[in-house]
Amino acid sequence: MNVLVVGSGGREHALVWKLKQSPLVEKIYCAPGNAGIAEEAECVSIAPMEFERLIDFVKKNAVDYTVIGMDDPLAGGIVDAFEAEGLKVFGPKKNAAILESSKAFSKNLMKKYGIPTAKYEVFSEYEKAKEYLSKQEMPIVIKADGLALGKGVLICKTMEEAQSGLAEMMLDKKFGAAGATVVIEEFMEGPEVSILSFCDGKTVIPMVSAQDHKRALDFDEGLNTGGMGAFSPSKFYTDKMDEECMKTIFQPTVDAMAKEGRPFVGIIYFGLMYTKNGMRVIEYNARFGDPETQAVLPRLKTDLLEIMLACTNGTLDKMQIEWYDNAAVCVVLASGGYPESYEKGYPITGLESLETKGIMAFHAGTAKKDGNFVTNGGRVLGITAVGESLDEAIKKAYEGVEMVDFEKKHFRRDIGIKKYN
Ligand code: AMP
Ligand code: GLY
Repeated sequence: MNVLVVGSGGREHALVWKLKQSPLVEKIYCAPGNAGIAEEAECVSIAPMEFERLIDFVKKNAVDYTVIGMDDPLAGGIVDAFEAEGLKVFGPKKNAAILESSKAFSKNLMKKYGIPTAKYEVFSEYEKAKEYLSKQEMPIVIKADGLALGKGVLICKTMEEAQSGLAEMMLDKKFGAAGATVVIEEFMEGPEVSILSFCDGKTVIPMVSAQDHKRALDFDEGLNTGGMGAFSPSKFYTDKMDEECMKTIFQPTVDAMAKEGRPFVGIIYFGLMYTKNGMRVIEYNARFGDPETQAVLPRLKTDLLEIMLACTNGTLDKMQIEWYDNAAVCVVLASGGYPESYEKGYPITGLESLETKGIMAFHAGTAKKDGNFVTNGGRVLGITAVGESLDEAIKKAYEGVEMVDFEKKHFRRDIGIKKYN
């Protein structure tokens, strides 16, 4: 089969890398991809939101199957556009991708179907939101309803902070249209875990657990980022918790979406928190997580393309998905200054030496200049290693981190060493 992956980050590099291992794959393309992905796939310079150009490319190049990595095209209805042309594609339709693209929708769904989550209220009018907020205890959480590059969540410790955050979101439109509606919710405490899962509209099969590190600096200091690293498995999430979540969260979510006439086909990412009252949903994503995917896919034994096709064909209940009994760690190398301003174009050295050690580099923001890799984004590379134990994987990933260099290289030294162990 000829396969096209849509997206350009470390997640898409990991998807391309894993899909390429499938004996079913003849040729693999990525749109738009990046310089690292170009080593493994033919990159085509079409942006993920250019649905018509993508469809045209797929038809002209006899692409049999398209895999959507990112949230924006899913929320914009890329799957509907492909299916309207009779093309096979992996991902949820627009009416199901809303599970991620509207936090008000997902919170209301959880309330309606009794899926455990933080208590909340939804507001579209600033004055009403302000009045409600003034009566709440601190800390409190304010979330923009729509997609805001993972930045639309404010954890407010003081009333002053909360009121100014709300005004920035609703009046100053800091997150644009995404903040026109807000969710104000109870602050929860506990360790977090990310469970990515395969869904075919009826059946849901969770993958091995993962945890990510969102803050820019060690020990969860600094600004929120797209993710500074991830590891799998989680250190606290047991098989028993997985069974429990299957009953209270995973299957109920998939059943709820089907009941609402929005069958979910693709990946549901369950962002969970283990509170003193039990497991709660923090959020849903309608796609693979980044960088969790880089730590999860190296542990997958079963052919990824076969699983994806089973999702699209509605036959996931027939699949046996197998995982390696090991651990994986992905440490993100970022450009100094990320997630605020940073420079690009610095030469990257040491990548060749990783291969000899069996360490992987998933490229997120790289380009090629005069035949050499240079930095080209905030998150540059995801240095990833597997090991028999988490400690072994951490050690190996950090060996890789030391081998690769570029000016103003920034990374966290505590990936896999989370405070809740
Ligand atoms: P989200 O984009 O909804 O995943 O939120 C980003 C991060 O904010 C989460 O990973 C949590 O660390 C934190 N967060 C979100 N909602 C809550 C909440 N209700 N209580 C405490 N922390 C939260
Ligand atoms: N790692 C969080 C996300 O992909 O949204």
